[in-house]
Amino acid sequence: MTKRVAILISGGGSNMVALAQSMLGEHPARPCVVVSNDPKAGGLAKARSLGIPTASVDHRSFPDRTSFEAALSASLARHRPDILCLAGFMRILTAEFVAQYEGRMLNIHPSLLPKYKGLNTHARALAAGDAEAGCTVHEVTAALDDGPILGQARVPIQPGDTPDDLSARILPYEHRLYPAVLRRYSDGDRTPIRLP
Ligand code: GAR
Repeated sequence: MTKRVAILISGGGSNMVALAQSMLGEHPARPCVVVSNDPKAGGLAKARSLGIPTASVDHRSFPDRTSFEAALSASLARHRPDILCLAGFMRILTAEFVAQYEGRMLNIHPSLLPKYKGLNTHARALAAGDAEAGCTVHEVTAALDDGPILGQARVPIQPGDTPDDLSARILPYEHRLYPAVLRRYSDGDRTPIRLP
């Protein structure tokens, strides 16, 4: 049966667009909703223009993480997702929330995990003098940026690179890697993908 995929965003949503545009034809999944924790996220309008239902659950209007996540869960439940894709979703989720979607939640992170969990990944790769950087798609577990790795793309770091240069070089790989992993994952295949 076709899998229903909810995509969670916080910003421009370029990975969300890549995922949504991949779920066509023979693909075993379809997007069912795009949810943002920021009502002003640019990705919401992009989702609507792709014909995908949207919702926003503004974390700033809740007193704590538990009540925010209860509202987020309720918003998601209305669309009965089988799989959750975090695509530039910049809120840390509690173990209780993650448990609801255990084994069916993915995330994309802009580093070669296990290196550089958390924020400012490209700046940290440059500061460390690394020869390469990249992105990782992994299953989400309660520990931040820590679940089983389902795909990685590596790019070389060039002399003089800035964090923005790295971001611009890596983002197109994110847009290839995440759809490729989601397609396999929707079929129950967790064999890791390596790019290029
Ligand atoms: C992407 O580079 C993604 O890897 C990163 O945010 C960006 C979102 O861009 N995610 C994280 O840093 C998660 N910790 P997008 O909104 O254009 O997809």
